[in-house]
Amino acid sequence: RIPVYLDCDTGIDDSLAIAYLATSPAVRLVGVGTVSGNTSTEQAARNSLDLLALLDAGHVPVSIGARDHLAKDFDGGVPQIHGHNGVGDVALPRSPREPEAGTAAELLIRLSHEHRGDLRIVAVGPLTNIALALRADPTLPQRVRSLTAMGGAALVPGNVTAVAEANIWNDPEAASEVLSADWDVTLVPLDVTLENTLDEDDRARLLAAESEASRALGHMLDLYFDFYLPLYGERSCALHDPLAAAIAAGGVVPTVVPRVPMIVDTTDGPGRGQVIADLRNQRLGPVDHPNVRTRIVLDTDRALGPHLVEMITG
Ligand code: BDR
Ligand code: CA
Repeated sequence: RIPVYLDCDTGIDDSLAIAYLATSPAVRLVGVGTVSGNTSTEQAARNSLDLLALLDAGHVPVSIGARDHLAKDFDGGVPQIHGHNGVGDVALPRSPREPEAGTAAELLIRLSHEHRGDLRIVAVGPLTNIALALRADPTLPQRVRSLTAMGGAALVPGNVTAVAEANIWNDPEAASEVLSADWDVTLVPLDVTLENTLDEDDRARLLAAESEASRALGHMLDLYFDFYLPLYGERSCALHDPLAAAIAAGGVVPTVVPRVPMIVDTTDGPGRGQVIADLRNQRLGPVDHPNVRTRIVLDTDRALGPHLVEMITG
């Protein structure tokens, strides 16, 4: 089974990603690190611990990561999208477990030694922890099999500004460092996550399931569906984070995946937080830019929704 470290800002769709990774037979979830984004890093850790316990995965270590981002302080999150507690204001039963003593970056570095050459990183929040781990240990990419990150918008508008997607927007400096490091990076942008959805029928299946975790996820989705109503014209939601998880686990296979040079705009202008993927596949930016080619997922072999519900409800 594939050892996976998940870095997240738990979050309703992050919760779906946790549930997918904890229930996938292809995966061994070996650690979770949290970062501020949808909610604070502390709240994200509490949500992760509580959800993992409901999923019979209470043994998975959870570490609190960065509260603030590399260049800016945490802005307080998005309660209008993910609720005041990050999980749609659903009160999860409190797990007796507490977060690990060290930081998320420390947990990631430790796991990269324990699973040398095999560890896959799935990053579905701002990339702050991954950047901090890289700064602390620049040899990290040599021990990691792959990094699959949800973020960016290649050919579609952003969801925070005209060009910036939330995970990159929250920490463009971290994204720039992480995406230009020398590892096998797959970026899962809004272009493809917005195409994968859950609707009220899927939610009804989660609510009717026996497991308490499925039902809790069904309740969380109530608020998330409200947010997406104007975009989709019906009560449904995008599956941003679970798509990155399913791609890393092999449950969904990317079919259109150009490997192209990519940079992140870290200026303070209107382009801040934009991922610029050069689909012409030419040299990007200044001549001394490393011009690392990153895989960017633009399409997949099947829709994630039915597979995700089946996996979670067992
Ligand atoms: C991303 O931003 C967060 O709000 C979601 O959890 C997802 O990771 C989508 O832009
Ligand atoms: Ca997220």
